[in-house]
Amino acid sequence: MADPAHRLKTSIAILGCGDVGSTLAYTLILNPICSEVILVDPKTELLNAQVRDLSDATYRGNTGTKVRAGTHKDAGQADLVVITAGAKQKAGESRLSLLSRNLHILSSIFASMSPINPHTILLLVANPVDILTYFARKLSGLPESQVIGTGTSLDSARLRGILADKADVAPNSIDAYVLGEHGDSQFVAWSSITIGTTPLHLALPNTLTPEFKSSISTHTRGAAAAIIAAKGCTAYGIGNIAASICQYILFDQRTVRPVSFYQPELGCCLSMPAVIGRKGIIRAMPVELDDTEKRELESCARGLRAIIEGATK
Ligand code: LAC
Repeated sequence: MADPAHRLKTSIAILGCGDVGSTLAYTLILNPICSEVILVDPKTELLNAQVRDLSDATYRGNTGTKVRAGTHKDAGQADLVVITAGAKQKAGESRLSLLSRNLHILSSIFASMSPINPHTILLLVANPVDILTYFARKLSGLPESQVIGTGTSLDSARLRGILADKADVAPNSIDAYVLGEHGDSQFVAWSSITIGTTPLHLALPNTLTPEFKSSISTHTRGAAAAIIAAKGCTAYGIGNIAASICQYILFDQRTVRPVSFYQPELGCCLSMPAVIGRKGIIRAMPVELDDTEKRELESCARGLRAIIEGATK
């Protein structure tokens, strides 16, 4: 198999072309980073309609990205495979309730994609993303550095958005991470947040009360559920975050973000900060947690391990 660095065409395959997959494809057309987006979905009528509609958006100019329908076999040869396929969270449903349905879909996807390009990077978006990332690693046989879940990158963006409003600065001037599960056991790494180089307790003096922290964590944890209750899905936030991660990978940007990847010492996949580049997870970035955050991380990992064990039985 040719080393991707020597190939001129770069392709991203998106498995699943519902709300999230098509929003991601649209974002990739508007901010082109690859020559080809391959959409794959067993619902042929929907697939062809999405390809036509998205292609219409490419004819105006400013994009070199072509959109086409493909098979799982085609997808398995892409530079990057993004998995959005699966049941989606309904109002009042937790991400974890999707597990058995989406694990089943994931297994059949890998069976159809095989043999997979050994240089491919897998980006898991479907939920519960941390558990699916864990199993995608096993099912694909790819090195663990090439299997990534969007994880809490979106929760962290939501957190930066709230703090940006409170501090009256741009969100990208804030370094703030939600870590752990992209789900209910996630936690905010409060002790490491900085605005510019200023620690949060100095940037927002007198504000950082337990009530303030708890209301922000609750908001971040419940953000998706609130959107889903009102419009039936989340798509723009996750579509945008997934597109950014695709860019960090294909442009070998070495951007540091919290994404879900295998944590050998915890025995599960969950989000911790990592350097992201062309080979996927280039390296984990150590993060200094205080005692409460360490306990939250351990409890989060315990919960995820129990779900993995339950799913393997
Ligand atoms: C959300 C979905 C992607 O948080 O879980 O919007």
